[in-house]
Order: sequence, then C-alpha cells, then structure tokens
Amino acid sequence: MSRDALVSDDLAVKFTTEKDSPYTRWVKSEGLDIVSSLYVPDLHAVELKPWARRGGMGVFLNHDASRTSNDCYVCEIPPGKALAPQRQLYEEMVLVLDGLGSTSVWNEAGQRTSFEWKAGALFAIPLNAWHQHFNGSGTRPARYVAVTNAPVVINAFGDLDFVFNTRYDFPDRFSGEPSYFANGGAQRGFLLETNFVADAVNLPLVTAKERGAGGGHIRFSLAKGHMNSHISQFPVGTYKKAHAHGAGAHVIILNGEGYSLMWPEGEEPRRFEWKPGSMIVPPNLWFHQHFNTGTTPARYLAFKAEGVSIRNAQGVPKAWISRRLGGDQIDYADESPKVRQLFAQALAKRGLTPRMDAAYEAELTELPPVLRGDS
Ligand SMILES: [Fe+2]
Repeated sequence: MSRDALVSDDLAVKFTTEKDSPYTRWVKSEGLDIVSSLYVPDLHAVELKPWARRGGMGVFLNHDASRTSNDCYVCEIPPGKALAPQRQLYEEMVLVLDGLGSTSVWNEAGQRTSFEWKAGALFAIPLNAWHQHFNGSGTRPARYVAVTNAPVVINAFGDLDFVFNTRYDFPDRFSGEPSYFANGGAQRGFLLETNFVADAVNLPLVTAKERGAGGGHIRFSLAKGHMNSHISQFPVGTYKKAHAHGAGAHVIILNGEGYSLMWPEGEEPRRFEWKPGSMIVPPNLWFHQHFNTGTTPARYLAFKAEGVSIRNAQGVPKAWISRRLGGDQIDYADESPKVRQLFAQALAKRGLTPRMDAAYEAELTELPPVLRGDS
C-alpha cells in the first residue's frame, strides 16, 4: 500500500488553485522552470536556461514544500561577465560549485565591501543588501547553488517591487564592515558565527557522537540570518542514524561517495546514489539515512530553514532524539536488518567492510529502554 497520501483527481483538482502562488508566478515571470526535486544526481551538470534579468543561466530545484518554506536555485555566471546587481527582502545562502570570482555587497548608506571566492566557498547575502557576483575567469563559467526563503517573503507580501526595491538598511546585519566576509569567525559549541567559509570541503569540524558513528559536525549562522546550515562528516565504512524532520533541508554532498535511503514511515526505503555535487532533499517527515561506501570520509552541507526542525520543549531538534524517547531518530539497535545487509553488500562490491561495531557498542551504553507497549 502506498503511503504517499495520493488522492483521487477529483479531490486534487479542488486544490489546484492553491498550487499557484505569488512565488511560483514570480519564477515563471523570470522565464525559469521549477524542477520538482527530492534528488539531483549532479548540481554541476544540471541543465540551466537563460536568465535574462540577472544576465546568467538558472533553474529552480524545489522540494515538495517549496511554495511555503525555502527554495533552491542553481545559477551560472558566463565567462568574463557579472550578474545584475540585486537586493531582496529574503535571505540567501550560497555554495560555489564551480569556478572563481568575487562579490560586491553594499547598502543604501553607501557602505561597500567585496570578497573573492572559488569552488567550495560558502557565504550568505545580508538581508536587503545590494550584491553583485562577478565571474573571475574569462574562459570558464562560474556556477553556484543557493537556498533562500523567497517563497515565504514573496508569498507574504505578493508585491515584487516591495521585495526587490525597498530602500532600507538592516545595520545590525551589515554595515559595510571591511572584514565582514573574512574567512574565520567565533566558534561557540557547534555554532560557527561567520559570514564566509573559503573552503567548506576542508573546514575543520567538531566531534558529534549523537548522530552515530563518530562523525564531525559544525553549524553556521551566516550573515546574522535566521536561516541556518550545517556540515556533517562521517568516516569510511560507516553510516549515520536514520531520522525524520520537516521539509526544506537541502543536503549537498561536498566530499565522498555513498548513498542515502529515504522513505515515508511504513514504506520500503528508496535508494539514491551520491557523489560530490549530488543533492538530496528529504520530503516532509520522510526518514532518511546516509551511507559512506567510498574510501574517504563523506561530507555534506545542509542548507535549511528553521521550519525543518521539529523541537522538543528543551529546544532540541527531535531528529537528534531517540524514537524510544519520543524523538525522530532511529537507533541502530532498532533499524531494519535490511539496512545493514544492504550496506555490507554495497561495501563488498568495493572490497570494503563495515566499520560499525564500535558505534553499535557505544550506542548500547546510552540506549534508552524500550517503552512498554512499543515494539
Ligand atoms: Fe536530516
């Protein structure tokens, strides 16, 4: 039995007008497509269309909740060119996929700064700051992927002139500080407060045993924004615990090879292969689980909006809490035997074996008891 909650055409047609929104009409007016995407094999190769207003090429890759939460787009700047300047009342986080270049950022007060980037750089656009991206190569395109909360803002106001042409600075977010986009920042626990990461692929991480298998983790608050992002890494021969959360996490593989399983509760897992540049977008409340089948650590970047996190009363995301405690993370001890079989088979094809015993044993020392009545 399918658990995708699909209904008859008769019922679906009664809601079709609600699929159209100021946001979807804006994307159409830009001359671009919205490609429905829970899995993109290679962001480096995804097909783009001319984006006349910005002076580049682009495509929107949106998950199932994109009308109301956060969207994703890929953009390419032609060799030797710059995109048109833009400011916007929504937040935007950027990962450079290919090439090199620079970005100028300025505000109504005339305060200006600029910084250079190349593939692997991560940054965000300060709210409503003017910004312009330049390709630093005269021979090769520069390509980036961005996640924004444009759907929330455009749908809330429905007025493009207001969203893209409001004269207002947010000085607490950006005031032209010369070092605003310097690489570095203050680390507090898992959170790195920074506006620019020059090389997300090699950024040092913090140990995070809570997600299983001895992984590394770091979280970002970029450009003093409300949207958030994190990087996770997990070792050779290991996999992470399955968990579920709200829609809007855009998981972009930075390094390594492997696959992810994704499934709505009660259904068989579906398998998606990945490599650097692949993107996985778990649909709302689907379980998902990431497996490293390569010979190097596997690292991914997740661009999110707060709506992804379903938190307990202490503010802890339930995706970090055992299902045995009412959370949304499946302990290794409770996963399907098929999960381990599939992983062992995938590794065997490459002459590798799982390195999960230490993680399984470590979990047993902290595993909450199964509640009576649970299975
Ligand atoms: Fe997740």
